[in-house]
Amino acid sequence: MRKAVFLLLGSVIALCLSGCGLKEEAVVPEFVLTYADNQPEDYPTVLGAQRFAELVKEQTGGKVVIQIKCGGEYGTEEEVLSQMEFGGIDFSRISLASISDELPKLNVLQLPYLYEDSEHMWRILDGEIGDEFLRLFKEKDLIGLSWYDAGARSFYSDTVPIRTPEDLKGLTVRVQNSRMVMDMVTLLGATPVTFAYSDVSYAFETGKIDAAENNWPAYQMLEHYRSAKYYTVDEHSRVPEVQLASGQTWRKLPEEYQEIIVQCAKESAFYEREIWADQEAESRSAAIEMGCREIRLTPDAQEKFRKIVQPLYEEYCGEYTELVRQIQAF
Ligand code: GCU
Repeated sequence: MRKAVFLLLGSVIALCLSGCGLKEEAVVPEFVLTYADNQPEDYPTVLGAQRFAELVKEQTGGKVVIQIKCGGEYGTEEEVLSQMEFGGIDFSRISLASISDELPKLNVLQLPYLYEDSEHMWRILDGEIGDEFLRLFKEKDLIGLSWYDAGARSFYSDTVPIRTPEDLKGLTVRVQNSRMVMDMVTLLGATPVTFAYSDVSYAFETGKIDAAENNWPAYQMLEHYRSAKYYTVDEHSRVPEVQLASGQTWRKLPEEYQEIIVQCAKESAFYEREIWADQEAESRSAAIEMGCREIRLTPDAQEKFRKIVQPLYEEYCGEYTELVRQIQAF
């Protein structure tokens, strides 16, 4: 009996010694940093952010810990950007449209009907032009880390199916907070309004809007299809997402960590791009299953959309005509 008690005690002590971390020293992080994303937890950009944080933790041996807050917990993208100015938030993933009024050259990358398709956009963003645009964020004391995919944006509406630009006439359309995007909708004959992303469902439900525009994952995962059952595949724009670091935070980080962070951001971007493609297809099927009516445009209608928005090229990117041509021909 005594022997058994001793044996038991011995194994309890041994278990404690190994389990209480006496063998392995716990790593105390040097930096615990915050990261904002306004999409839900299982959205590709948030999964990309999680991968980013894991990679950074791994490669800094636990010295840099990045805590992701998604679902807009830190506010709208505009609010996040103003927090980043003084390092209140360290990192974010935002849509380019949220900052294009402040850095108007970014409008080049989100001009309607600029890219032939997704591959075309990635040739640009992965190349010298994409890198140059990432450096542009310095003007706002931000570090552009990498580009994330957001697919193509299309219009969706509640009662009137949009088959031609004429169908948009008289509709109130929720758009992102960007002058160029608002003007695009005005050119198409509708009235733009800028509700926060988190308020789009509410705006539909309370009759404040008749239509909105976004990609399939946003439309399906935020359940906009519940109010707006007509999804018109006009794919008027591809607005890339960007991962940013606050300049204030950046200057506090040793160069060694800065390099790791840049590398991990790029690696996470490839991962996000991979899962994006699957999510796009999955969201489209799921929305259709829930009663969404997908509307495909005739080539004629598609051409009408393209023509109507052409004045934006001169109005917003007249200074960069050469660059726009270069992108189109790339
Ligand atoms: C995209 C993007 C969001 C953005 C939203 C919008 O879905 O991922 O970051 O806020 O569009 O329309 O506001």
